[in-house]
Amino acid sequence: MGVSEDFSRLSSMLPDFELELYLEAVQQPLPECVRINTLKFDGREVERFLIQRGWRLEPLAWARHGYRVLEAPAKDLGNTMEHLLGLIYIQGPVSMLPVETLEPGRGERCLDLCAAPGSKSTQIAQLIGLQGVIVANDASKKRIRALSFNLQRWGAVNSVVTLTDGRLFHRWGAGLFDRVLLDVPCSALGIVSKDWGALRRYRSRHSEKLQRLQLSLLESGYRCLRPGGLLVYSTCTIHPLENEAVISQFLEKHPESTLEPVEHEGLKGRRPIEEFSGERFSPEVAKCFKCYPQDNMAEGFFVARIRSPAA
Ligand SMILES: C[S@@+](CC[C@H](N)C(=O)[O-])C[C@H]1O[C@@H](n2cnc3c(N)ncnc32)[C@H](O)[C@@H]1O
Repeated sequence: MGVSEDFSRLSSMLPDFELELYLEAVQQPLPECVRINTLKFDGREVERFLIQRGWRLEPLAWARHGYRVLEAPAKDLGNTMEHLLGLIYIQGPVSMLPVETLEPGRGERCLDLCAAPGSKSTQIAQLIGLQGVIVANDASKKRIRALSFNLQRWGAVNSVVTLTDGRLFHRWGAGLFDRVLLDVPCSALGIVSKDWGALRRYRSRHSEKLQRLQLSLLESGYRCLRPGGLLVYSTCTIHPLENEAVISQFLEKHPESTLEPVEHEGLKGRRPIEEFSGERFSPEVAKCFKCYPQDNMAEGFFVARIRSPAA
């Protein structure tokens, strides 16, 4: 598999990175996983129905309602009646961790600032129940169609879809939300099994540009929190400029905020790095979750949990 010069350089700069294991892992298809819809159905009934239809499922330790698919009635899960009816949502296993880290509670007001195509918004919708509300925002007109369709398929009548630049959202939403999810645009180097060309096309200037966008989105999302509210920042990349560096710079600007540890029972993670390319990160960053694709033979992810100060 060909990788760009910039990716090759990046891999040699990461002290804990095993390039061969990474390349081996990203050449495997992602493990097939689903989430069962408990918003418009009784979860146990869905489970019984799926078993009758020939599904064999194994629960994921780190995600309520998340399962690994051991057997299914069709090769392409997206073509099953269960998917079409909104009984299940097809989602990568590690991708379910950010919302579990956000811990949305029944009846809460939540914001998903970069929401399309909606895997995490639908997950939040089912955890807050019908008394809560999830505002699912995205800046892409094209991607918002899939977001709306997926929320509708999921029966998420507790959702509101907005189309705006998330960097400006605080102008309307400051202080309004109990929880904010920031699953930001990133270089996606943790899920290249979906697009191997990404490794050939990768240039380091992409990460530098993305970092500026990520920091602005994080700032806007943080302002949308009520006092004592919780924000989760996540990416599906392995690049420290988009992960540790963003959180470290944010903490420096916001010493009043608290970084909280991320629980990840059942998922293998690694200690975030302390320094990259001459930039030393806050030691607090060790509380974040980080994994590479080779760790769980699944997606690579980075997840941080930030609390705003109580009033
Ligand atoms: C990693 S994807 C989100 C995936 C989604 N959270 C999910 O789980 O299905 C990042 C999203 O950010 C959106 N985006 C990019 N720039 C944005 C901006 N300035 N404001 C809001 N959304 C933006 C992209 O259109 C894309 O849908």
